[in-house]
Amino acid sequence: MGNDTSLYGRAGTAWSIRLGGTHFHPGGEDGTVALAALAARHGFGTEPVIADIGCGIGGPARYLARRFGASVIGIDIAGPLLARAHQDARAEELWLRCGFVRADALALPFADGSLSALWSVAALSHVEQAAAFAECARVAAPGALFAIADWVAPGDPGDDGREAAWAALGLRLLSLDAYRDALQRAGFTIVAEEMEPPAQASPRALADEHAWQTQFALRYGVGALQAELVRSRTWAALVRETGMATWRVAVRRDASSRFPGPSSQGINPGGN
Ligand SMILES: C[S@@+](CC[C@H](N)C(=O)[O-])C[C@H]1O[C@@H](n2cnc3c(N)ncnc32)[C@H](O)[C@@H]1O
Repeated sequence: MGNDTSLYGRAGTAWSIRLGGTHFHPGGEDGTVALAALAARHGFGTEPVIADIGCGIGGPARYLARRFGASVIGIDIAGPLLARAHQDARAEELWLRCGFVRADALALPFADGSLSALWSVAALSHVEQAAAFAECARVAAPGALFAIADWVAPGDPGDDGREAAWAALGLRLLSLDAYRDALQRAGFTIVAEEMEPPAQASPRALADEHAWQTQFALRYGVGALQAELVRSRTWAALVRETGMATWRVAVRRDASSRFPGPSSQGINPGGN
């Protein structure tokens, strides 16, 4: 059973699924649908292969495979989440179209310029975004579409103690302007964008919550329950008090930009 109280450990994952289902981000499946719709208006989903960067347990990957009939390669750094992603894809008979690979968003296992469609939700705010965008730009073919939903901070996140508070939840937030700049500097042009309506400040109050939490404590330990309650409260306070919000954006890899010379490693999903 262990006493793993990390954000994406077994207990943290069970807690997140309880809150938001298998789409592991605020906004849940509705957020996934909204980003897919935004990007599809600009041609996203017509390519046979989509790479999902920071795929979690694969709710969005399975949605993309069903909606667009695409093959989706999910990459994530957290092995236990990928195990669950495999399991769910098998259960939904999507295992031939949803593959999952353990990798870091900062060192993607794809060849230079090999992807025509990329997707990432609520994941790149866990890493140094400029480096992640540069890596995504490396693997994106000229003209590739990249659909992103991520947290952004109002104003300059460095101007008060908010940065430390977000860091406690594993997040590095950029302001909207800094996020736009970082994408453009990496060689992406914004083709569509929208803000998601403000996130719910508090978790849903479910009628069976007390019993569910008791079972959670029995299964994962009281320490895990306490850690998740603190995390939920911190999260709610941050959303309420710092005005952090989700930004959905579709960007296109500049045709004129050059990626670094051919790398010797990496999958080439296009096969060329
Ligand atoms: C909020 S979850 C979102 C998961 C998924 N995109 C979804 O919407 O259901 C953030 C994900 O980012 C992943 N992640 C964090 N750092 C990463 C990194 N350096 N490389 C790849 N994935 C990372 C986490 O393991 C987690 O699955």
